[in-house]
Amino acid sequence: MKKGLFITFEGIEGCGKSTQARLLKDYLEEKGIKAILSMEPGGTEIGMKIREILVDPKHKGILHPITEALLYQADRNQHLKEKIIPHLEKGYVVISDRYQHSSIAYQCYGRGLDIEKIEWVFKNIVNGLEPDIVFLIDIDEETSMKRVKNRANTEKIELSRFEIEHLNFHKKVREGFLELAKNSKNFVVLDGKEDIETIHKKIVAVVEGKLNNV
Ligand SMILES: Nc1ncnc2c1ncn2[C@@H]1O[C@H](COP(=O)(O)OP(=O)(O)O)[C@@H](O)[C@H]1O
Ligand SMILES: [Mg+2]
Repeated sequence: MKKGLFITFEGIEGCGKSTQARLLKDYLEEKGIKAILSMEPGGTEIGMKIREILVDPKHKGILHPITEALLYQADRNQHLKEKIIPHLEKGYVVISDRYQHSSIAYQCYGRGLDIEKIEWVFKNIVNGLEPDIVFLIDIDEETSMKRVKNRANTEKIELSRFEIEHLNFHKKVREGFLELAKNSKNFVVLDGKEDIETIHKKIVAVVEGKLNNV
């Protein structure tokens, strides 16, 4: 029996998901609301091992798209059973930095896999939960790449397998996310080029509205 609120953040690399997810978690905790922040891939110990395979730039061009899609579903299954569902049952607000819509945007819109097949695995094998709110932070692919390169420079980290994909791939993924938003009522689309505080206030307003309704 689900009692908490399940919130996901989606969007292309560098749109601001991790920044906003962290701000929301801090805001909720300050208000005394039980909240956890998690992520995909890698929200569990097993998931971290799956994540290493997925982000490794050495696997570019080798990792088969179906293997990739199934690894994401495996990570998600573990994440749901081990962390998301138990916390929702205890009444937590569960915030996930990426979830199923990333699979559809990257693997289906980006790489061309069949949406129905991936959704079928999610619904019938993983028994996936629908989020209560999906925050899609939308930015263009040029801004995305600029931010990702800046971040890698300041944090002195290597670009991941996705970050080294070409601009056109990120454009297709972005368009995929926007298409998904058009067809689902639980999506809230935010302009990721607004400043961090403005976006945060919009997110808080939506979450407060939902919390007051439960
Ligand atoms: N609204 C914003 N305006 C300008 N820069 C931002 C904004 N949101 C995030 N950033 C910066 O862009 C980079 C990517 O943000 P991050 O939250 O890590 O994105 P994501 O998790 O979606 O990849 C970081 O350096 C972050 O400080
Ligand atoms: Mg991030």
